[in-house]
Amino acid sequence: MTTPRVLKTPDEVRWFERDLRRRGQRLALVPTMGFLHEGHLSLMREGRVRCDVVAATIFVNPAQFGPNEDLSRYPRDQEGDLTKCGQAGASVVYCPEPSTVYPPGYQTYVSVEQVSQGLCGGRRPGHFRGVATVVTKLLSLFRPDVALFGEKDYQQLQVIKALAKDLELGVEIVGLPTVREADGLAMSSRNVYLSAEDRARALSLSKGLFAMKAAAEGGEANVARLVALGLAPLTQAKVKVDYLEVRDADTLAPLTTVTSGRPARVLVAAFLGATRLIDNLALTVP
Ligand code: PAF
Repeated sequence: MTTPRVLKTPDEVRWFERDLRRRGQRLALVPTMGFLHEGHLSLMREGRVRCDVVAATIFVNPAQFGPNEDLSRYPRDQEGDLTKCGQAGASVVYCPEPSTVYPPGYQTYVSVEQVSQGLCGGRRPGHFRGVATVVTKLLSLFRPDVALFGEKDYQQLQVIKALAKDLELGVEIVGLPTVREADGLAMSSRNVYLSAEDRARALSLSKGLFAMKAAAEGGEANVARLVALGLAPLTQAKVKVDYLEVRDADTLAPLTTVTSGRPARVLVAAFLGATRLIDNLALTVP
């Protein structure tokens, strides 16, 4: 393993990118907020399969946190993250300061109109504007051939696909499956907040989603009945549900029926104490 080179400024990124182009190498980018887990590392490994060089970014983006959210306590471990990036094949890691990304007087934001609506976009006003802005800045700076994101943040992935297409950024956006713990819990940097008791109750999210998936595969197409099935484990575990909805997998339009041949997605958000977790799964009827 080689220790990745740490870049701190946009100029350093531009020099790195130009040098790469001169050598005719393909670049994969993996943007993250750090506190890396196996989900992030799977993105870097896949980037290495698809491209010659992998760059990761570690930046806890203040623009995507609401005033009462967990920006100040978001978990951080830069030293550990750099080691993990090196082991997963990233040769460069961009770790800018907030004042570098958003210097005084900063005033330009990116808004993705449709897929940002509802779900997390409805519950966290401004969240996707912050995500879209920082991701657009990173894609414009690195000009990667491929950028990789986890399907765990499924609405975010659709937002990023839309902005890359609409702004003609010339990058392939790749979504990779959610990585789960052995018991089904979706890996998330925020899992570290959970007490042992809340960690056990959090399993009700994936339990509900997998019950819905099995029912859909068994022929249940009615969304109201599927949602009732998905909610049962959450109610039993006394988890506060933020939303549990079935949407078209591409447009994120709400569905009342799951139709054969048209990909659907169930998305859930719920609170375990002060910690908000999200998860989602593909639904298909035969
Ligand atoms: O998914 C994340 O970690 C963040 O939302 C992202 C895409 C790195 C933008 O800050």
